[in-house]
Amino acid sequence: MQEKIYDVSPEWSRRAYVDEAGYRAKYVASIKDPTAFWAEEAERIHWFREPTRIKNTNFGPGEVSIRWFEDGVTNVAYNCIDRHLETRGDQVAIIWEGDDPSESKKITYRELHDEVCRMANVMRNRGVTKGDRVTIYMPMIPEAAYAMLACARLGAIHSVVFGGFSPDSLAGRIEDAKSAFVVTADEGLRGGRKVPLKENVDAAIARVGGVDHVLVVRRTGSPVNMVPGRDVYYDEAAEMVTADCPVEEMNAEDPLFILYTSGSTGKPKGVLHTTGGYLVWAGMTHQYVFDYHDGDIYWCTADVGWVTGHTYILYGPLSNGATTLMFEGVPTFPSISRFWEVIDKHNVNIFYTAPTAIRSLMQAGEEPVKKTSRKSLRLLGSVGEPINPEAWEWYHRVVGDGRCPIVDTWWQTETGGILISPLPGAIPQKPGSATLPFFGVKPEVVDSEGKVLEGATEGNLVIADSWPGQMRTVYGDHERFVQTYFSTYPGKYFTGDGCRRDADGYYWITGRVDDVINVSGHRMGTAEVESALVAHPKVSEAAVVGYPHDIKGQGIYAYVTLMAGEQPSEDLRKELVAWVRKEIGPIASPDLIQFAPGLPKTRSGKIMRRILRKIAEDEYGNLGDTSTLADPTVVDDLVTNRQNKR
Ligand code: PRX
Repeated sequence: MQEKIYDVSPEWSRRAYVDEAGYRAKYVASIKDPTAFWAEEAERIHWFREPTRIKNTNFGPGEVSIRWFEDGVTNVAYNCIDRHLETRGDQVAIIWEGDDPSESKKITYRELHDEVCRMANVMRNRGVTKGDRVTIYMPMIPEAAYAMLACARLGAIHSVVFGGFSPDSLAGRIEDAKSAFVVTADEGLRGGRKVPLKENVDAAIARVGGVDHVLVVRRTGSPVNMVPGRDVYYDEAAEMVTADCPVEEMNAEDPLFILYTSGSTGKPKGVLHTTGGYLVWAGMTHQYVFDYHDGDIYWCTADVGWVTGHTYILYGPLSNGATTLMFEGVPTFPSISRFWEVIDKHNVNIFYTAPTAIRSLMQAGEEPVKKTSRKSLRLLGSVGEPINPEAWEWYHRVVGDGRCPIVDTWWQTETGGILISPLPGAIPQKPGSATLPFFGVKPEVVDSEGKVLEGATEGNLVIADSWPGQMRTVYGDHERFVQTYFSTYPGKYFTGDGCRRDADGYYWITGRVDDVINVSGHRMGTAEVESALVAHPKVSEAAVVGYPHDIKGQGIYAYVTLMAGEQPSEDLRKELVAWVRKEIGPIASPDLIQFAPGLPKTRSGKIMRRILRKIAEDEYGNLGDTSTLADPTVVDDLVTNRQNKR
């Protein structure tokens, strides 16, 4: 493991909010007296009624309940917009960069206010009120942000579904959230290609029902099917309403959003985040981790369909009165220099992206980067998966010209915001390490029995106490919340990640230790892909595991047993890949499918995934004990077939 250290430069420690001593003192204070610490931090947002009860959290045993600032009253949209109008009305809030480089626009805080109010009024006129669930299935256009903030303004709970998900996946999420209102666009546009969003919404609604209203934003202007009485074009509806809409007073623990994410078993679960604690966490982490100062131009390349887009395109930056860039396109269109061109075009100072993007751009060499200036860049960030030291070094040396620190930020949909990351003016960086915990975060490394390991060690990563941005429950299924996160190591939040802690106390996330895989920074449950495969009429059984992939981090490896009488073929392989894309979405396409006459099972019929993982990783010498298998010969078959593929 590489342990090169990049020290904090003197300019950085001077300009940053905290230097190393400052970080350590503040961290100790946050752990010693969380109530005092968070009472003070709560002041970063505006409260209609100040909270007096700061922390009321219990990780069990007994009832698991998490409440922060519970008697406070506030509103997220008020904090992200209205609060800034007096001092920043004319400042740019959102820079939008279209898929086509000739299209971009700037939206000031005052314009944002008017747009969000109109969107909120359109929703309100159609019956949306506090507590209702609104599904947002949108491309990366400003109206996606307006829709989210309009929900926050009205106290409605948004559930954003990534535009790359299939009608089936969308239907499942609409159904689980019991959402009667959907916001979408006629079509999306990515890399010059159109995405049939409205058509997908129609297909989803045909499957679930219960949707009374579909609001359709015109993006491409292509004609789409409009159901009278149910569907309305946003531009037409917006003309009928004013640009003023009162904000709903929200209790700190009222829900803000649901975001579906994959787990190791079953259907994706609705991660529920609430109002006060989430916003304090989003704003504080955005300020410190990105060292955001007034006037900075900040760009996070995520999609609003993922938590990174929620917290670090929208809520964190806007609550800090920042200028945040929203990008509709992809890194390779119209050229492989697009990211760097956008940085030059808008003078981006802070750039936050995923390792998979860096690795794929690395393949094209330095020239497409070096031909751009990037002089405006000051800080680089990474998120979503472990960043390998080679990619880190390239990002630092080529993209940042050796001058910009890198914040490798570890967190999860469940955590609401960043939990482990260097602060750029305080913490020396080691390529590949997320380094040290943010204020108020108590990470621990435990062994499989739950014993807390001290010092330099390796094991499973848990968090020993609550932080304000933490998810509160699984929507509609609190028992699943408790089971998933608090039963493996009672009294602690289990992250599902493995990690190593070195002698300097730095954390190195080693990846998931459960049946969740991370493909190009997209999180997927192997069980979801398996159930999509077995839904195919020719498939009798399927087992899916991750394997190391140079660009994607992990690839999807599917072992498939066919129904009796069916023959493996190249055509069938393609058919199955297309099937999974249709069932879940393109991000779930299997990279490799191996037809297997049998899968390794224990005598009680349980598939031994450990063995399948090893075979997928090409580690045949290390298959472990296979003697408990019902039929040990299937392993030889699998290995022979796998080797033939190489
Ligand atoms: O395995 C960790 C990995 O991504 C998982 C969370 O995925 P998701 O909920 O989709 O959120 C992604 C955006 C925050 C984690 O359990 N992960 C995320 N960031 C890092 C990471 N692994 C290593 N290093 C990171 N910086």
